[in-house]
Amino acid sequence: MTWPRRRLRRRHIEEAPIHSAPPWQKYGHKAERWTETAYADAPAYLAHRAQLVRRLGPELRPGDAVLDLACGDGGLADFLPGQRYVGVDANAEMVAAGRARGREIVEADLNAYVPTAPVEATTIFRAIYYAADRRELLTRIAGYTTRKLVFDLNPRQYRLADVRADLEAAGFDRLATRPFFVPQTRAPFPGLQLLERSGPVARAILRFRFTLICAAWSGRSRT
Ligand SMILES: C[S@@+](CC[C@H](N)C(=O)[O-])C[C@H]1O[C@@H](n2cnc3c(N)ncnc32)[C@H](O)[C@@H]1O
Repeated sequence: MTWPRRRLRRRHIEEAPIHSAPPWQKYGHKAERWTETAYADAPAYLAHRAQLVRRLGPELRPGDAVLDLACGDGGLADFLPGQRYVGVDANAEMVAAGRARGREIVEADLNAYVPTAPVEATTIFRAIYYAADRRELLTRIAGYTTRKLVFDLNPRQYRLADVRADLEAAGFDRLATRPFFVPQTRAPFPGLQLLERSGPVARAILRFRFTLICAAWSGRSRT
């Protein structure tokens, strides 16, 4: 009696649609007010992120180029006024929303994109999981990034040791990490950021919440 049921299930699988929507499609309806709605306090969140983009690892200088992969509407650009900012996003509505606010954004898939000229820094925020093959993506980024790669990581979702191995294989043999204690969906708590450098306390907090910002670079780069 179980045979017909098994056959039915197999036919169901065979008839399932083979094309699923690309992962960036789900962001379209949020594009117009992405930065305002994705963060409880967008200026506090993005200003601190921008500070770490500039200072964690080798420092950026005024005029250095920052390529922000999976940039959303490119809201980070407003907090990096001293840098030449270019965003990349695969969602056409995100790209249009960012451009409407005067930001330079290219519509492309981060898994294939290569800029026309090298950049000092590449960033990826809240999007490292969109890498089709993380090691391959990091290797491509290393090919056009002259000073550093900065990205965020949920340490409860990814093992830092695995990411470090992929970074080293790509040629990024130096890594600096910093806890990032600005809540995304709640107003920042006073004094919380002071705990980012608290060592064991910060590590304990990271077991439950928040992310790590990572800056990776090559010890051989001389720019
Ligand atoms: C969670 S949002 C993060 C946006 C921005 N980086 C931020 O931190 O606010 C993820 C973004 O990744 C984009 N995205 C997803 N897959 C992508 C891909 N393969 N190439 C480029 N962008 C992609 C989505 O369109 C979306 O804008």
